[in-house]
Amino acid sequence: MSENAPALVMGFESSCDETACAILQDGHRLLASQIASQVDEHARFGGVVPEVASRQHLAALFPLVERTLADAQLTLADIDAFAVTRAPGLIGALLVGVSAAKALAFALDKPLVGVNHLEAHLLAARLLASPPAFPYLGLIVSGGHTALYVVEDGGRFTLLGNTRDDAAGEAFDKVAKLLGLGYPGGIAIERMAQSGDPDAIAFPRALKAKTTLDFSFSGLKTAVRSYLQTHPATPESLPDICASFQEAAVDALVRKSVQALKQHRLQRLVLAGGVAANTRLREHASKAARRIGVECYLPERWHCTDNAAMVALAGFERLKRGERADATLNAAASEHRF
Ligand code: KG4
Ligand code: ZN
Repeated sequence: MSENAPALVMGFESSCDETACAILQDGHRLLASQIASQVDEHARFGGVVPEVASRQHLAALFPLVERTLADAQLTLADIDAFAVTRAPGLIGALLVGVSAAKALAFALDKPLVGVNHLEAHLLAARLLASPPAFPYLGLIVSGGHTALYVVEDGGRFTLLGNTRDDAAGEAFDKVAKLLGLGYPGGIAIERMAQSGDPDAIAFPRALKAKTTLDFSFSGLKTAVRSYLQTHPATPESLPDICASFQEAAVDALVRKSVQALKQHRLQRLVLAGGVAANTRLREHASKAARRIGVECYLPERWHCTDNAAMVALAGFERLKRGERADATLNAAASEHRF
């Protein structure tokens, strides 16, 4: 272990609508991980309201720190370093976590690092009991992002493809809204799709050409909207619509992942981000990877959606390399270089 590696890292996540705190030991042993979800607060507005999110983070954060410490049977004095998501996300929400981490690090005179939320998602599979070796292909599918990265090691990420419009999770959320399934939409669609026929409706798969590793989901969302204009959803047809939409989205994600694995001769595929909790995606990706002799790694579902364990892990990697943030550490709403 490098001399810079801290034994106990406390991580914070507050980029969107989950406030989270976790304590990681030696970069792999999770001692405690707590999440305070704001889903109920935002559900009545049909989506995340940034101002509400910031206020909720503020109210939730310190009680959460106490719970996390109690769970790990530790006190703040035991923590060796702090890591926090600093970008990308809702700026007011990010600032709550960044300010809290900064305050604790400076009050306790302990090291601090800022991490990128995507980097944290891409490393979450390293929390598995049998983690993937580097390099691997990371498919990150969340509410704000859909991209393919080569994860060269804990600190080098090469972007291969990105969405040109909506993120996959955004498409799930928007289609769920169209179908009156409420917010958040991904899990609602998955549940409804269980009793539906994925081949009932042939929704489009965009950007099929082998010349790009980019994604596009806005056409799929529009196709569902057009379909509903001529075939209004009924309780009988809803499962088929959900299953067919889910199939089209999953198919596009898996197809590009397989293309990237082949083109870049990678041996491992890792799923990351909230949509990676989707059972159909997990099954389809595993099967497709197996078919081409690639190992597929599926983080636990609660490590796919937003959490602070992945932030502590990404922070540990940075701290190990000797990185230290100072009092100028700031949040950024959009930043895709890490
Ligand atoms: O990673 P995440 O928790 O937050 C962001 O960084 O965006 O991802 C949230 C997204 C939402 O769009 C949500 O609808 C989607 O992940 N999601 C799912 C499922 N669970 C969460 N989408 C499809 N199927 C699921 N089971
Ligand atoms: Zn996320």
